[in-house]
Amino acid sequence: MVTMQPAYDGLPATDLVGQPLDWAWLRGARSEWGVRPKPGPRGLTMMDIAVGSYGDVAEHPAHRSMAPRGADVDPGTPDMGYILNAKSDVWADNVRELYEEAVARQWSATRDIPWGELPDLGDDLEHAICQLCTTLSEVEMIAADLPAKWMWRMNHDFLEAKMFLCTQIMDEARHTEVFRKRALANGGGLLKSRAGDESLLRTILQAKTYVQASALMHLLGEGFILDIFRQGELIAPSEVEKRMFRMAMQDEARHVAYGTLHLRYAIEHDADTAEEIHEALDHGEEVLVAFGTNQDLSTAIAVLLAGGVEHVEDKGFPMQAEMTRKLLASYLARCERAGLSRLSRTKLDLDLLGIDRDTGVIRS
Ligand SMILES: [Fe+2]
Ligand SMILES: [Fe+2]
Repeated sequence: MVTMQPAYDGLPATDLVGQPLDWAWLRGARSEWGVRPKPGPRGLTMMDIAVGSYGDVAEHPAHRSMAPRGADVDPGTPDMGYILNAKSDVWADNVRELYEEAVARQWSATRDIPWGELPDLGDDLEHAICQLCTTLSEVEMIAADLPAKWMWRMNHDFLEAKMFLCTQIMDEARHTEVFRKRALANGGGLLKSRAGDESLLRTILQAKTYVQASALMHLLGEGFILDIFRQGELIAPSEVEKRMFRMAMQDEARHVAYGTLHLRYAIEHDADTAEEIHEALDHGEEVLVAFGTNQDLSTAIAVLLAGGVEHVEDKGFPMQAEMTRKLLASYLARCERAGLSRLSRTKLDLDLLGIDRDTGVIRS
């Protein structure tokens, strides 16, 4: 029988078969012992536990491992192959709050939409909402695939950003689900998918850097979709779709809020990033316009805005043109918030759109 040798203040030096024991976790770890975050009214949030050194996120982390930030990391820990190792590559100052909000506001496309209350809309309106939902269901999943493509390359010290992107991926699964369900739920089904839609998705997915991908996806693509959801009260043919757009809008607003502040953070920390983003948006705006002017999408929206085909020319098309103006003005304002003025650079025809090139405001 092996005799235990006392060590570390009376702890055994070996195990039962004589292997030496290392009690560093119990006696020598560099933890912030005694730091005790207090739960608030909402519970114990990620903001609550960002205390002491645990709340510090290094601009350039020392390790490239999955070790939890703030743990005592073994010097021999393997490199996980991360390529996004600067905080400015992925961080946004609102990311902890956005993660908590995302977790608190998850909803169910199965339970939370009153599917049983869908009215009979008539063939034209049913076709129009089905076409819109076909396109939306097609584009939603890009905002899951894209973060998934980059997340395993992000340094794990930026875990709150990765956690937030996990919520975005879940949100997009639900958006794909809810629009697919709506297309199928009232007898219309899935309608047209066109090559132009896929070109936009391909441009986003194949962006060369994460910051370019984030600009194309969060700022441009999701911003555009968010603004469509914001028009949901006008577009939706019934209370059921209004609820669907309202619920999706909350999620989309978080994704756009992350992207906007992420890009601002990236530009503030590296001025060269602005040009990198501009280059991506120069091309991105072209494919977005091609996507937005896709006749399936634009005429379906016009029919929905007009309440049917009868008034599509005198009411639907003018409302749809006004909506496009608002969407693009909103995008330009979002760029300004991100610290990236597109007004003097964009190839969008601002005069034709009636948007003032100096202020980005729609002319009355
Ligand atoms: Fe979405
Ligand atoms: Fe999104």
